Amino acid sequence: MFKGNALVIGASGGIGKTLVKQLHESGKYEHVYAVSRNLPASPLEGVQYYSLDSESEDLVAEYCQQLKQIGGQFSLVVCCIGALHSTGDDNQKFMPEKRLEDIQKEQLSFYLTTNAILPAIWLKNVEKLLKGPEPSKLVFFSARVGSISDNSLGGWYGYRASKSALNMLIKCAQIECQRRAKNITLISYHPGTVETELSKPFQSKVPSGKLFSTDFTVTQLLQIIPNLTPEDGPHYIDWQGNVIPW
Ligand SMILES: NC(=O)c1ccc[n+]([C@@H]2O[C@H](COP(=O)([O-])OP(=O)(O)OC[C@H]3O[C@@H](n4cnc5c(N)ncnc54)[C@H](OP(=O)(O)O)[C@@H]3O)[C@@H](O)[C@H]2O)c1
Repeated sequence: MFKGNALVIGASGGIGKTLVKQLHESGKYEHVYAVSRNLPASPLEGVQYYSLDSESEDLVAEYCQQLKQIGGQFSLVVCCIGALHSTGDDNQKFMPEKRLEDIQKEQLSFYLTTNAILPAIWLKNVEKLLKGPEPSKLVFFSARVGSISDNSLGGWYGYRASKSALNMLIKCAQIECQRRAKNITLISYHPGTVETELSKPFQSKVPSGKLFSTDFTVTQLLQIIPNLTPEDGPHYIDWQGNVIPW
């Protein structure tokens, strides 16, 4: 029976680490590959870790070429790269914008790069790993706040816009894959609010019972995606499997 390989991009983060663990423990994949800038303090035996900076397109391309040469079709690639707040190069703290006056070029550029451009570079390079005779899934961690039609609160200009941009890239890629890699299903996933570094500054405002563990949202994802098909893709869905309007 076809198992295929799995690749997790952004494997050092709260969700990425748990995803690597669940994929590895499932025994459903020939090999599990995990890539990020930082490597986990306690790597799992049997997982193929690799450290690279996605800011270098050449490094991403070389790594994917190496995986292609090792051989074996990938049945799953998940990109968990993303940022909602950060400390900038000059030690300036980026927090999501609350109002128009908060918009800054450097911060907007940071959001667009991390949440849309870096995932797009991976999208371009992993297609060759997923393309093949067997069905495969390409998942990007997006967010519900990237939905243009669901935006009733405003704010978070850069994060929202960058996740909307990611969604558009996913939409374009599914159309192109329907012509040249018909086996690939693209998915834009909203994990809910999950207890990780990314959500830390906002966790106190989350209603009780709505702050999910990384294990919960990853379990949900892995249960939902097997039923999704490329013909009606891309799929913009939440942790319950409910469709989110674009
Ligand atoms: N947690 C939530 O409540 C929540 C809600 C909605 C959506 N999401 C989405 O879920 C995904 C995972 O988030 P998380 O909660 O696990 O966050 P996290 O713990 O902060 O992990 C973020 C990941 O993104 C990577 N990353 C950040 N900046 C990067 C950069 N410039 N270049 C390359 N990699 C970079 C980090 O890897 P390295 O720094 O090691 O490279 C890390 O693996 C994100 O896309 C996020 O937007 C999360």
